[in-house]
Amino acid sequence: MFEQAERLKYLELSPTRVMFRKCAALTAQGIKITALTLGQPDFDTPNYIKEACKRYIDEGYTVYAEDTGIDDLKKVIAEKLKRDNDLDYDWTEISVTTGVAQGMFAAFMAFLNPGDEVLIPDPVYVTYNQIPRIAQAVVKPYHLKEENGFQPDIVQMESMITEKTKMIALVSPSNPIGSIMSEESLKGIAELAKKYDLLVLSDEIYERLTYGKKFISIGTLPGMKERTIILNGYSKCMAMTGWRLGYIAAPKELQEPMNRLGFYMTSGSVSFIQYAGVDAMMKENGSIERMRQEFERRRNYLVGEINKMKHFSCIMPEGAFYVFMNIRKSGLTSQEFCDKALYEYHLGAIPGNAFGESGEGFVRLSYATSMEVLEEAVRKLKKMDADLV
Ligand SMILES: Cc1ncc(COP(=O)(O)O)c(C=O)c1O
Repeated sequence: MFEQAERLKYLELSPTRVMFRKCAALTAQGIKITALTLGQPDFDTPNYIKEACKRYIDEGYTVYAEDTGIDDLKKVIAEKLKRDNDLDYDWTEISVTTGVAQGMFAAFMAFLNPGDEVLIPDPVYVTYNQIPRIAQAVVKPYHLKEENGFQPDIVQMESMITEKTKMIALVSPSNPIGSIMSEESLKGIAELAKKYDLLVLSDEIYERLTYGKKFISIGTLPGMKERTIILNGYSKCMAMTGWRLGYIAAPKELQEPMNRLGFYMTSGSVSFIQYAGVDAMMKENGSIERMRQEFERRRNYLVGEINKMKHFSCIMPEGAFYVFMNIRKSGLTSQEFCDKALYEYHLGAIPGNAFGESGEGFVRLSYATSMEVLEEAVRKLKKMDADLV
């Protein structure tokens, strides 16, 4: 037997994958699962983007591209950041990645040494808890509690900072909670970053999917651009998860080590997909807004129904496409709830503790699925609610 490398010893299998596998095993037995598990839009990629991609393949855009991304794409991304997010980046401060997943990996690996500490939201999308471990860095979770509207406690965060702390990560709008960081929270984090000279990694992948509350990027706050790495991409708001297209915005001196690493990781994103990414931005025809409105309709329905139930409740999520449902009144742990839901009611959900210890007592329900599936899920949840004594 060959032993795995030391650096992978603390890397765990994603708990969300475990749940997907359980669902898949039942589906393979012919059991129909009502799945609210997936973090990807149920919409198809808009046609104009697919057509553009086919054209670029036919026209021979099939060779290596510049490893940090093609200039045209960087230019439209810089324009988008200015237009939508009020962020000032020159196009040379953008690099293209194979999904936000690569940007996240590059940022952690480029800046964390063994023993360095990184403050990570809890709960959070699972990779944030795991990737720093490959760098043998120490993950320190800052808690996002329902009773605080899922906003961070800045005093608690400050008490966690030591001379080893290097970075703060934030994900807003959040997966798995659907919350958006308030301006006050962002200002608090920005002050900490400046006071203790920390880097900030800001995952803004859900930034277009908001329902009333304005999304603010921490990179727009005074003195923050020089210490902030922004991650964003096409997966969620353009229904392009499988295209694996993302980007990093950061000042050149922060980009440089990530770009150097990026070359050895992928040698650049797929050429014709990058060209299609230019069309996706330039010719956007309202598809994002149509999807956003549909997500909002589904959110309102699901939240309304959950809050009529006896054992389950949730606060109104402000962005992304997840409801973080409180199940504490059921007396079940998150895992017990999800196993019961799956094996007895054929309803798929992700246990909240998969995203960190503050997620215990919650389950994540994704409403990136059709209204019919949501109605079926609500019927099953009502039955579970009624069956609980
Ligand atoms: C917060 C967050 N960041 C990043 C990703 C991964 O994005 P990509 O598909 O661009 O790699 C996800 C996917 O679920 C996510 O929820």
